[in-house]
Amino acid sequence: MDNTLTSGPIGIFDSGYGGLSVFKEIQQLLPQYDYIYLGDNARVPYGTRSFETVYNYTKQCVFKLFDLGCNLVILACNTASAKALRTIQQHDLPPGKKVLGVIRPTTEIIHNFTQTNKIGILATTGTVKSESYKIEIQKFNPEIEVFQHDCPFWVPLVENNEINTEGAHYFVQKDIHELLGKCDQIDTIVLACTHYPLLLPVIEKYVPKNINIISQGPIVAKSLQEYLHRHTEIETYCSKSSQLAFYTTDDPRDFETKAKVFFGKQVDASHISV
Ligand code: DGL
Repeated sequence: MDNTLTSGPIGIFDSGYGGLSVFKEIQQLLPQYDYIYLGDNARVPYGTRSFETVYNYTKQCVFKLFDLGCNLVILACNTASAKALRTIQQHDLPPGKKVLGVIRPTTEIIHNFTQTNKIGILATTGTVKSESYKIEIQKFNPEIEVFQHDCPFWVPLVENNEINTEGAHYFVQKDIHELLGKCDQIDTIVLACTHYPLLLPVIEKYVPKNINIISQGPIVAKSLQEYLHRHTEIETYCSKSSQLAFYTTDDPRDFETKAKVFFGKQVDASHISV
């Protein structure tokens, strides 16, 4: 890191609320750090948008978090990790600033869960189209076959708190049936979208018991812990007073109400323009 840096909070970015499910795990495992969460609720969803749009939106939000003093930003959003992370890492980072995503931590350890080497990925259309999971998993484990299926209705169901409704059951059952129809040996399903763990009780009803269902929050939290342990030059610049701040590009009162569902506790949010 460069020696003009001062220590600052860890930034957590998502297109909306979903990243709070990842943030919750990070904050539980690493409560000593300060964090700023930024949800781009005004422009959610990212999952249906083009590469260029997701890249531009993500870059604006990441730079806002840098302006707020963050030196390290986690893209707690699969779509942003799939479509924007690499370009930002390669072309846009100011000296001393770092950005990490949620795909690499998952793909690095996924082989631990499968016996059949057949893995299912449930994600947004954008993440599926990017093929990021396929590419990353096969980089580490060429013997693993990856089957993908996009679930365009799951994010709106969660965003609108329609989690345990007839509609949610209909779409979850249909999409799981379609994924498992691609290969009868899939023994591990990755919920490769930050919103999907919120649907877990419904998902579990339609996934056979012998199939592992993987939520990313705990995996990403553990991976960040190990990263900070390995990179003391970065860890030194993460401030440690256990302060949390929440920003949204949309209505903060609305954010506070919905954040309770994703984060599991009451939060105070402020509006921010990016
Ligand atoms: N956070 C996004 C993801 O994990 C889902 C919501 C969206 O489409 O913006 O892919």
